[in-house]
Amino acid sequence: MKTKKILALIVTTMIMATTIVGCGSKDSSSSTTSTETSKEPVKIVYARGKDVTPANVKVVEKFNELNKGKIHVDFIEMPSDTGKQHDQYVTVFNAKGTDYDVFDADVIWPAEFAQAGYALPLDNYIAKDGINLKDYMEGPINSVTFKGKTWGMPKFIDAGLLFYRKDLVQTAPATWEDLITQAKALKGKIDFPYLMQAKQYEGLVCNAVEFISAYGGKVVDGDGNISISSPETKKGLETMKSIVASDLVPSNITTFMETESHTAFIEGKGGLIRNWPYQWALAQDEAQSKVVGKVAIAPLPKGSVRSAACLGGWNTMINKYSKHPDEAWQFVKFMTGAEGQKISAIDGGSAPTLLSLYKDSAVTTKNPLFADKNFVDGLSAAVPRPVSPIYPKLSDIMQIEISNYLTGKQDVDVAIKNMDTKMKAAVTDASK
Ligand code: GLC
Repeated sequence: MKTKKILALIVTTMIMATTIVGCGSKDSSSSTTSTETSKEPVKIVYARGKDVTPANVKVVEKFNELNKGKIHVDFIEMPSDTGKQHDQYVTVFNAKGTDYDVFDADVIWPAEFAQAGYALPLDNYIAKDGINLKDYMEGPINSVTFKGKTWGMPKFIDAGLLFYRKDLVQTAPATWEDLITQAKALKGKIDFPYLMQAKQYEGLVCNAVEFISAYGGKVVDGDGNISISSPETKKGLETMKSIVASDLVPSNITTFMETESHTAFIEGKGGLIRNWPYQWALAQDEAQSKVVGKVAIAPLPKGSVRSAACLGGWNTMINKYSKHPDEAWQFVKFMTGAEGQKISAIDGGSAPTLLSLYKDSAVTTKNPLFADKNFVDGLSAAVPRPVSPIYPKLSDIMQIEISNYLTGKQDVDVAIKNMDTKMKAAVTDASK
């Protein structure tokens, strides 16, 4: 991604005095002495957002088993909303807190966290252990690279996709217009013909970026300049609103994040849904889903220019103030290496960032996405959000202005003009 030029800058310290909610470790055995050695294992605290699949706990358990008596990872669950999670980390790291040694970071955070001095650069560990970053996908590697250093290891890649009920929808819609037509035909047959994420939060930016890009618009241009003001952006946002304001989605869709939309879908209430790859594993999970075996996957519909998926995903980083960086690295290396990513792919439906896993039959037979060349190729065409240390500021502006448009508080031209002016001002301020 070529937005490097955007910004040398301030650190956004949006400190919210929230309390850290820890669900605690599933395994409290860390205080017991190992039978092999009388030494206490080094205890590492690992934080990440809620995982609705069993994968994350499995990765931690496997690492603890392999490192018994030496290192023990305690897992703390953070809020699912990436913005809320972000603010909790910022609060802790800004105070040089050591509450977490290792944490999963959204692809939009590394530049900010590196600039703010919250994260440990991993280049020495990577070199010492002979890890070849070329074994990983380029987009996720770009997201952890800032000012020539590597600030995290890519754990999984996300890209927006369309999932639909193959017992209700004959052929995946090719365009957003087709989707609207097909969704209309589902009225009366299902509670919610279409599900998406339209709450004012980070996921709204992802959904909006997909509409904007599908119609040829760009949030930033190839030189990293804000270029959101265009007729293409307008067309994209108008299409988005024609869906959000319709009766094809739940009437309270502007309160929906991933959790609300995937829950409605696995309860059998949705016809089509825009979501990330984990949706597949969740829909196939007999313990939670009423739609096992009834779901198919397709690229998001095309706008007037193309089909566009937002690039998402999570990297794992080490707190710069961790008292146990070497042990923290051992865990990062395991979780983001082949064994850890394989568990995330098989049990969690998360798309690996390690290219070799797309040739691993245990991975490809479990999930049709990972065996699909179009999906894998499509990942490299996913649209990144701006890589910038002031990303949270840019995102907040988009969230507010787009939300005000979708909820009828302002028209599309005002929303675009406000985004343009405010985002440009934020970039200028940051470079002073
Ligand atoms: C997913 C994506 C992440 C994105 C978030 C928005 O977790 O991986 O990149 O920011 O959704 O809700």
